[in-house]
Amino acid sequence: MIDFSQSSIMLLRHGMNIQSFDCGDSDLNGFLLDDALHYLDERMAVTYILEYQKQTVAYFCLLNDKVTFDTTDANEKSFWNRFNRKHKIPNLKRRKNYPAAKIGRLAVTTNFAGQGIGRFMLESIKRMLAKKADIGCRFITVDAYSTAFDFYLKNKFQFISTKDEVDSTRLMYFDLKQVPDS
Ligand SMILES: CC(C)(COP(=O)(O)OP(=O)(O)OC[C@H]1O[C@@H](n2cnc3c(N)ncnc32)[C@H](O)[C@@H]1OP(=O)(O)O)[C@@H](O)C(=O)NCCC(=O)NCCS
Repeated sequence: MIDFSQSSIMLLRHGMNIQSFDCGDSDLNGFLLDDALHYLDERMAVTYILEYQKQTVAYFCLLNDKVTFDTTDANEKSFWNRFNRKHKIPNLKRRKNYPAAKIGRLAVTTNFAGQGIGRFMLESIKRMLAKKADIGCRFITVDAYSTAFDFYLKNKFQFISTKDEVDSTRLMYFDLKQVPDS
């Protein structure tokens, strides 16, 4: 099993050397190996890598987002009403948009899959974003691959609506108010 006290999560910067990474998905591999630093330079996303035993075993990237509802659409208005009630948003604070951070990408290298690294990264992201220190952020969002729906559901993410239920990726979210204050 992984000894997480021996792992570190680091912000990806120029000059860091990632020799190889294979999570079984060429888009996710290519992002880390070829694109992540361009996204950093353009301030479009920041990438964090998880190092263990001197190897890059996983990564995720984060960017600003919002959870948004088109309340002129009757279906969306009912999702919005349910959402507000579910998350106990006080009437005076109800908005059509709520501040969020998006997990742009998240992947674990195949030879370390199934050992709790994905869960560990989601817990780290939740703790990092729940700190209330730098910027208001209520939700975490992710456009989840269908193959990863159950992974996110097990980690307390939910689907935002049913309108994307036939799509290959679906918008899922997590309410940061579920994280206890530290
Ligand atoms: C999906 C992924 C991130 C999961 O990481 P991981 O380190 O293997 O997952 P963990 O070991 O932390 O699993 C946590 C729990 O989720 C479950 N789980 C993990 N991946 C799953 C999947 N694809 N489908 C269903 N359940 C999954 C595990 O069985 C475990 O359940 P348990 O708590 O009942 O034991 C990883 O397999 C991966 O990188 N896949 C390829 C890229 C990808 O799909 N990324 C997501 C893009 S949205």
